[in-house]
Amino acid sequence: MPIAVLLITDRPEQSHKLDRLLSLWGRCAVIDLNRPMTKLPETRQLLISDVDLSSRASVEAMRRALAGQKRSVPHLCLVRDGSARTKVQANAIGASAVLPADVPVKVLLGEVGRMLNGGGGPEPVQQHFLSASVAVADMLASAARGELLPAAAIEEGVEAINRAADNRDLGAWLELVWDHDDATYQHCLLVAGLAATFAQRLGFPEHARRLVTGAALLHDIGKARIPIDVLHKPGPLTAEELLIVREHPQIGYEMLRRQGDFAPDIVEVARSHHEYLDGSGYPQGLRAGEISDLVRMITICDVYGALIERRSYRAPMAPEEAYRVLLTMVGKLDADLVRVFRQVALPN
Ligand SMILES: [Fe+2]
Ligand SMILES: [Fe+2]
Repeated sequence: MPIAVLLITDRPEQSHKLDRLLSLWGRCAVIDLNRPMTKLPETRQLLISDVDLSSRASVEAMRRALAGQKRSVPHLCLVRDGSARTKVQANAIGASAVLPADVPVKVLLGEVGRMLNGGGGPEPVQQHFLSASVAVADMLASAARGELLPAAAIEEGVEAINRAADNRDLGAWLELVWDHDDATYQHCLLVAGLAATFAQRLGFPEHARRLVTGAALLHDIGKARIPIDVLHKPGPLTAEELLIVREHPQIGYEMLRRQGDFAPDIVEVARSHHEYLDGSGYPQGLRAGEISDLVRMITICDVYGALIERRSYRAPMAPEEAYRVLLTMVGKLDADLVRVFRQVALPN
């Protein structure tokens, strides 16, 4: 069976992340140039090479490896130095584009997306998803290390998610999200995708859409400071663990407020997205009049998102069933917004 993207590398241990990101476009195979070469799999869309072109042996191995490949498949060649000699070698092994191997992931993925699309046309949902994934990875890593959040990257992630929502193909977005094996990533991108679609369906103007999607992307940022073994515990939490997890709204609120880069409405969502209109939520036990429309929207997306998430230890709930759960939460969720959310959850 032909594969979509083939990555040839002489350092497979460093290519793992790339390989995972590329697999979003379809089947991706990685060939280790240092291993005895068998016949390369037939490649349909894109060939990427990440080898040391200053080594004669590597260049020769590349030539042999590529001998059976169709010349019509574009070849992105990642180079480790900008010397003229390396450029000549890249041309000699048939590169159709050349990039430094240490280029930021976002630039690399942008180029990959451009090459896969034949240099033009609308960006596919995968491209938006990849941009958002990169932003979320950056955001969660910074939060876990106690560093400032990358505000500009988050803004780009929000933009990517809103453009994906323009395509009105939430199903494709969900398929990509479900492939993510990290539960926190999956949750951020899932809730943000739902919220972006919700705002789009409500006909919100662009600035309000940015606010809604940004709030969704950041709502659980406080979880980055909760111990992983508690957060990802497969099964019910003890009373003590539950208390720890329930600190995340306040932690997130403090993080965002202290940094000062985020709209007050977004900061509020981090603290209040577990509040319910009847006062039964946490951390403050707010009641309807104290809960903003933005918080109400994100709470609906959050509850619904948690129900349809895919976990290794339990089957996901079907959309119809998950939407029925929202309907049973009378008095807790905003009934009018839940009604509109039906178009997001069950579009057909
Ligand atoms: Fe939360
Ligand atoms: Fe959440």
